[in-house]
Amino acid sequence: MKESVLRTLLVAFTICLVCSLVVSYTAVGLRDLQNENKLNDERKKILQSANMFDSSLSIESQFEQLEMKYVDFSSGKVLDTYKDFAIETYNQISTTRNPLLSTKIPASEDIAIIKNRENVGKFYISRDKNGELDKIILPIRGYGLWGTLFGYISIENDFNTVAGLEFYSHKETPGLGAEVDNPKWKALWPGKKIYKDDVVRLSVLKGQVPSDANDIMYKVDGLSGATLTSRGVTNMITYWFGDSGYSKLLSELNYES
Ligand SMILES: Cc1cc2nc3c(=O)[nH]c(=O)nc-3n(C[C@H](O)[C@H](O)[C@H](O)COP(=O)(O)O)c2cc1C
Repeated sequence: MKESVLRTLLVAFTICLVCSLVVSYTAVGLRDLQNENKLNDERKKILQSANMFDSSLSIESQFEQLEMKYVDFSSGKVLDTYKDFAIETYNQISTTRNPLLSTKIPASEDIAIIKNRENVGKFYISRDKNGELDKIILPIRGYGLWGTLFGYISIENDFNTVAGLEFYSHKETPGLGAEVDNPKWKALWPGKKIYKDDVVRLSVLKGQVPSDANDIMYKVDGLSGATLTSRGVTNMITYWFGDSGYSKLLSELNYES
């Protein structure tokens, strides 16, 4: 009897040990693949925000068509280099944890609840066949209801018209705030205008935009039952196109073109 109890325990222990080894080995072995998939998903969203994604071609080859640049938020200047960073791997989100590379946003100005903004951001340029700037793709982020939404907004070469909006990470509720990923809602964005008389006017309303509304080109339908996420999207647009976001960059690019 004693011997059989011991044997049962030994068998159970051996099974547990083997299973835990298999799980750990698989988790470690798949980590690189998971990271690569995450990166490719973000790249796909970058391309989709500019309506450039073609599912019959590889994400990598399409992504290579984009030019990567830095933006110095304090001046709006476009930079080719920044410290010792390699632009391909520069992660502006992780620089926000370094006080030397980021700036704390005063609470009164932190409408998108970002807390720290990177001093230097990374953005993308797409060019047409003649090498002329066609669109720029800008990372944006801001708090919704349950957490920060991370995405990309692409802008036409008038530097005021939205070409597309995509989110690659958020914690909003499926069927409510997560409808930011609904293709029907995303289709409302292309053609919308950001600034009117140099002031950010683009916003997501509560409910539908009335067809006879004034300034219809500055308004997007709200997400039904998700007013807080909708407000979060408005706040991130207002912040990122404001003075401490991309407004200086857009003026610089407009001036150059
Ligand atoms: C479980 C649960 C999940 C919710 N998720 C969201 C969400 O992701 N985004 C959001 O704006 N509101 C969400 N809400 C609703 C908000 O609490 C709030 O009622 C809503 O934003 C108000 O929108 P409305 O004025 O359009 O009804 C959720 C509510 C519940 C109970």
